[in-house]
Amino acid sequence: MKKVLLVDDELEILEILETLILSEVDCEITKCNSGNKAIQELQEANQYDIILSDYNMPDGNGADLFEYNVTNMNLPFIFISGGYLEDYKDVKNFYDHNELNFFINKPVDFELLINQLEKVFSNDKSSGAFIRDEKTDLKKYSQIRFSFLKNYDISNYEVYMKLSDNNFVKVKNIGDESFEDLERYEKKVEDKYYLKQEDMNLFLQDALKEHIYNVSRAPANISEIEILGSSLEIMHDSLKALGMTELQMSLAVKTVESCIKTINSDKTLKNIFKSFLKSKGYFVSHSITSCFLSYLLAKELEIDNETTMAKLCMASLMHDLTLADSELCKIYDLSTNEFIDLKNDQKKVIETHAFECSEMCSKLDIIAGDVVTMIKDHHEWPNGGGFPRGVDSNSLFALSQLFITVLHLSDHLFKNGHGADSILSFKARMRIIGIDEERTPKIYRALNNIFDKASS
Ligand SMILES: [Fe+2]
Ligand SMILES: [Fe+2]
Repeated sequence: MKKVLLVDDELEILEILETLILSEVDCEITKCNSGNKAIQELQEANQYDIILSDYNMPDGNGADLFEYNVTNMNLPFIFISGGYLEDYKDVKNFYDHNELNFFINKPVDFELLINQLEKVFSNDKSSGAFIRDEKTDLKKYSQIRFSFLKNYDISNYEVYMKLSDNNFVKVKNIGDESFEDLERYEKKVEDKYYLKQEDMNLFLQDALKEHIYNVSRAPANISEIEILGSSLEIMHDSLKALGMTELQMSLAVKTVESCIKTINSDKTLKNIFKSFLKSKGYFVSHSITSCFLSYLLAKELEIDNETTMAKLCMASLMHDLTLADSELCKIYDLSTNEFIDLKNDQKKVIETHAFECSEMCSKLDIIAGDVVTMIKDHHEWPNGGGFPRGVDSNSLFALSQLFITVLHLSDHLFKNGHGADSILSFKARMRIIGIDEERTPKIYRALNNIFDKASS
């Protein structure tokens, strides 16, 4: 078997490179964290086929190691470095000593590195070193959240890491229960984990089932609010991959039930703003916050009965579900640069998502007509300045007006915090969208009451 000496002072880089190389090349890798240790290793066991080394290292840099190699065994030498070879004055005539010497910049173009290893090892085809043979088959991958890898059973799936658009490398095999390695890489390669598309569909179906079970019996170590957040994440991701199925519907209903249960168990809602789920990102945070703010406003308006609350929670959870890119649900005002600077296809997605999502929901028996209407209207403004239809308070029914207010408030609190200043600036926003004494008197007064109570 081919032997590789891999040298870098950063342990994490050593480990990532080792995993990546081993995923494509059947070889034996020895790691050293300094030039001098590598020289010592070469002195003791001179059986290597190639040296891959960093340049900048304390205790013997890459030039020292290269020098030793040239005067002794002169193995093919690949520098993997963040700098430029021309700047390394102590590396003399690098390319002249061995035609297989090569220089690769960090961050590493993995394909280039593997190609170079292929060249070095190709002298001996019988070694069968290369296990990479189905690259073109690896066409369809689906991104998976790291939290899913941690929270659901992934033992039956291979996990891949994306290195570039056409380059995925396997980082976990079937049957491997541990994700410790994945966790270690996460800091370096965030949001880069993928499953094969067909695996992703199977995984999501299983995860949905597992999650529905968990929603009904919250495990002791996870808070109910965390589970609500995960419910939304898995509903959102699985909708993309599977479309709306019975499982999602059953999860939506359970999530609404559990939302109402959480609201009922803490009528003061004092912990809600603390949790806020900001770490789960905007999509999850603003949806869950909207459930709770719906309750606050509905209570003030004395319409906080269970049926109305269930409708408001359902609308809060479902309204942006069809936005595949959840970042886009942050946009409320089409006259801002945030919107104007988007690509045309993204603009189109935003402009049509309220229709699209209400359309999808209208086909589902368990979603009430009021919910469908709230979703269709969720970006309208009481003064007619919203989208897609630009209708005003005269055409918006009461629950839609309430829901629109709640979405703006949860957006505002997410972006500005929930201190006194934030509430003050929300009053300015109310004027901009037309929540006022004239157009929406009941909601206007109820909101002011809530703000007065909050500040007293
Ligand atoms: Fe939206
Ligand atoms: Fe939204």
